[in-house]
Amino acid sequence: MAETEETARARIDELRRAVEEHNRRYHEEAAPAISDREYDKLFRELSDLEKSFPRLAAADSPTQRVGGKPLKAFAQIAHRVPMLSLDNTYSEEEVKDFYRRMERLLPNQKIPVVIEPKADGVAVSLLYEKGEIRYAATRGDGTVGDDITQNIATIRSVPKRLKGNPPDVLEVRGEAYLDKSGFAKLNAERTKAGLPEFANPRNAAAGSLKQLDPAIAAQRPLGVIFYGTGSVEGIVLEKHSELFAWLKKLGLPGPGRWWPADSVEEILSAIHELDRVRHDFPYQTDGAVIKVDSFAQREILGFTAKSPRWAIAFKYEAERVETRLLDVLIQVGRTGTLTPVAALEPVIVSGSRVARATLHNEEEIERKDVRIGDVVLVEKAGEVIPAVVGVRTDLRTGTEKKFRMPKKCPECGSEVVKDEGQVAVRCVNSQCPAQLRRRIEHFASRGAMDIEGLGEAMVGQLVEHKLLGDVSDIYALNAATLNELERMGEKSVINLLDAIARSKSRPLWRLLFGLGILHVGVSASRALADHFPDLDTIMKSSMEELQRIPDVGEVVGRSIHDFFRQPGNVETIEKLRSAGLQFKAEEKKADDSAPGFKGTTWVITGTLSQSRDEIAELILGRGGKVSASVSKKTSFLLAGEEAGSKLEKAKKLGVPVMDEAGFRNLL
Ligand code: IVH
Repeated sequence: MAETEETARARIDELRRAVEEHNRRYHEEAAPAISDREYDKLFRELSDLEKSFPRLAAADSPTQRVGGKPLKAFAQIAHRVPMLSLDNTYSEEEVKDFYRRMERLLPNQKIPVVIEPKADGVAVSLLYEKGEIRYAATRGDGTVGDDITQNIATIRSVPKRLKGNPPDVLEVRGEAYLDKSGFAKLNAERTKAGLPEFANPRNAAAGSLKQLDPAIAAQRPLGVIFYGTGSVEGIVLEKHSELFAWLKKLGLPGPGRWWPADSVEEILSAIHELDRVRHDFPYQTDGAVIKVDSFAQREILGFTAKSPRWAIAFKYEAERVETRLLDVLIQVGRTGTLTPVAALEPVIVSGSRVARATLHNEEEIERKDVRIGDVVLVEKAGEVIPAVVGVRTDLRTGTEKKFRMPKKCPECGSEVVKDEGQVAVRCVNSQCPAQLRRRIEHFASRGAMDIEGLGEAMVGQLVEHKLLGDVSDIYALNAATLNELERMGEKSVINLLDAIARSKSRPLWRLLFGLGILHVGVSASRALADHFPDLDTIMKSSMEELQRIPDVGEVVGRSIHDFFRQPGNVETIEKLRSAGLQFKAEEKKADDSAPGFKGTTWVITGTLSQSRDEIAELILGRGGKVSASVSKKTSFLLAGEEAGSKLEKAKKLGVPVMDEAGFRNLL
């Protein structure tokens, strides 16, 4: 703890930088580097220091702001009522203090509160006007968020039109989440496709909503629970406890369970009960939110700069279980990265059996000083992925062994290297059987060439029998060779050969993705196949030509360029050509990327002869984008009958306005 203003200043600077960086990683990259608990500790230390040394407080300190900056690529939406965050605590004592403080501020009054689950997803705000959804936005910096209407619109449980008696205006707030079981499936698919796993459902939800392509969000099992409102016109509610029933009548799902309380004892008992039942909820929870029920009392209690005085979040400690680290195994990935994995004496953590846990990399093992034979603490990051989070050094007997990253690849015995500035260690032998297996698994995976039946076990057998030396050998497999493999019945052979034959006509972008070029994911593969007529042109393209394509850029461009200049890769591609794979990009649909639409952003308003969704599809299908709000970046406002505020705003900003006749003409 810093004692003088001088030492406090240095620590405050350090903490501000750290909190800013973790905010950025959490909110903008959806890839946190530390646990919530660790983050909260840093935040709390900073906020305490600023309170003890008020002269060092600053308006731009992260303690004075909510969350991250909005993302650049999305249109921006200003919230009608700011989206604030909540004060967090892990201590029951502080929950008691919170309630007692309110009792002092509201003397001689009963203060009924509501306890509800704290869903661990992404905060969203949806605006309904006259019952129709207008837009959906992320919290962003609390004042302005990203327009994620298209992605939220893919969620089946979110109504486009409210049921019953909707108010004129309803800004409704909630948490978008990824179903726990859907999360496990999504990660299994990502592993199969050679993509990195999401650390927890919250990151997966954030990653899904950050997709600029709503088709990707549509494939994710997302849901929303609604727990509050922003601006509401046309109805007056008096109590929070009425809200859930009312939202339900409108078709907006709530948290499922909540508890009323009007004393500290009742609050604590509700918190404990919620902790017992929350693991059965379909969404991930990390705490309980305690909120004053009466809106009139909330008004009197008011807000601090960052959060309301009438609500607090109590966070549950993640369940930590002790077990023994039996060994550290090494997994070799598709690009040769060696990842240490903990082999544990099996234990039950948060309801399921855990025998393996991630150890990330060598630096992480050293930082935590994890040794083989140690009793380690295991917890599930975000209730899902097991991770080793600490060591019981006090239980050491002296027989524990330090782990050293092998100097040679455990699979093929080749040298391993550490690229400059990188933490990961890689096996450089491109013929390494482990890498080969992973590359073929990736090629055949659902996200790439989608060859059913060519999974991990099958690929393992085929590589072991030397039937597959690269991905092109898949197309040389035949019934005679396959029949000799273990557990391969006649039917399985026919099915596999059939699936292989079908994969030959997959579109070019899938082939590009399947080749597993470093840094080339689905969106870069699609961009390449959209931009070039065929694979040969891509192979011949200069670095500059490649780098000019959106979604490619410098690093990816270089990687593609290098890939096609390696003789081994060229040879594989020639074999794929002889096998008859699709090297030509798909013909653009006749009306795809029509002039007048490509690269333009549209806002649709007023009454038109087709629904907004249908009109939006017409625009999207021609290479345009659709946004929910008018800004300087809007290319056109398509205004139907009775267009209102958007029309005015467009006129004010000088955005060109088009009526339906003009739009039809353009089509
Ligand atoms: S109420 C002004 N209720 O937790 C109060 N928030 O730091 C607004 N959250 O930003 C929040 N479940 O993203 C509230 N039942 C719940 C919640 C909840 C999850 C999230 C929300 C909020 C953060 C609080």
